[in-house]
Amino acid sequence: MSTFVKNAWYVAAWSREVGRTLLSRTLLGEQVLLYRREDGTPVALVDRCPHKLAPLSLGELKGDHVQCGYHGMTFDCTGTCVRVPGQQNIPPTARVTAFPLVERYGAVWIWMGDPACADIGTIVDVPHYGDPDWGLVDNQYLHFRSNYLNITDNLVDPAHTTYVHKNTIGNAAGEDVGVKVEQGDAHVLAYRWIRNAPPVPLVQKMANFSGMTDRWQYYYLHLPSTSYVDFGCIESGTEPTEDNKDRGFRSFSFNFLTPETETTTHYFWLHLRNYHAHDSAVSADVERLMTLTFEEDAVLLAYVQREQERTGVREYTRLGIDNAPARIRRMVERLIAQEAPLADKQGDARTTADACGA
Ligand code: FES
Ligand SMILES: [Fe+2]
Repeated sequence: MSTFVKNAWYVAAWSREVGRTLLSRTLLGEQVLLYRREDGTPVALVDRCPHKLAPLSLGELKGDHVQCGYHGMTFDCTGTCVRVPGQQNIPPTARVTAFPLVERYGAVWIWMGDPACADIGTIVDVPHYGDPDWGLVDNQYLHFRSNYLNITDNLVDPAHTTYVHKNTIGNAAGEDVGVKVEQGDAHVLAYRWIRNAPPVPLVQKMANFSGMTDRWQYYYLHLPSTSYVDFGCIESGTEPTEDNKDRGFRSFSFNFLTPETETTTHYFWLHLRNYHAHDSAVSADVERLMTLTFEEDAVLLAYVQREQERTGVREYTRLGIDNAPARIRRMVERLIAQEAPLADKQGDARTTADACGA
């Protein structure tokens, strides 16, 4: 059974990847063609000609239209066939699905579920994006050979950092400080405060704290698969308002996971920080360190995926640290159940709002 939530916005590509050449990408198990119209508007169509199933991405752009590279059928950006070479009539089956798109945060977001449910208000909010006082590292991408839910497990699991990331961001300090978990309608949050502690090495290097600090780590998972980590510290005893946290040492790390297949995932990420915002050497450091860290996860999770496939089992033992991951999986299962085709529910008075998960 599919583990994909269809009624959600996913990053299909960074904006700069989509242009006047045909880009083919597998998203949620479907082959998708991406390009821009002459006016710059992005377009997404199923990358498959309805005639002999040739990938349209092997064809050519003709203005705003795509011409199949096999027999020349031509489709507009709504997926409607506008030309069949050699015949006048256009068969009613001669069309391809077009997907709603929106550009935000330097990325092209795609909606592959019921178009009636596509509400751009459900895209996660990225605080301080575009704020000149905050340093941005974006346009980042990794490919994970793992189902996306193994990655969401990992991204709300602070405990693994001590072991998986001992060469990068992990350290033993604070490992006994408990993690609290909260759940909202569309998110799960795992968080902890480490109070009255000396600043960690990164903070010592980047900021000037004379005394002890209160440090926070908030790991959010916005359903189905956007993760972000709000990390920072303030002088011990400072009231932890949002403004005070913004005046302290703070970063937001966003990971936008888009399932590619059931066993692979596109991993787009960006990072915002309020320290040394305009220092390109610091940006390069952030990029290098985050990439190394995420690659450590990617290596481990590829092995996890392999063993899951070999055994047909996801886990034999559940631990206390699995609280947040288990909640996410239950919430995702509920979303998928809500999306079960209306046709399967004869006599059921479900509305579109139900199917959209509203
Ligand atoms: S396969 Fe596309 S026109 Fe024949
Ligand atoms: Fe990790």
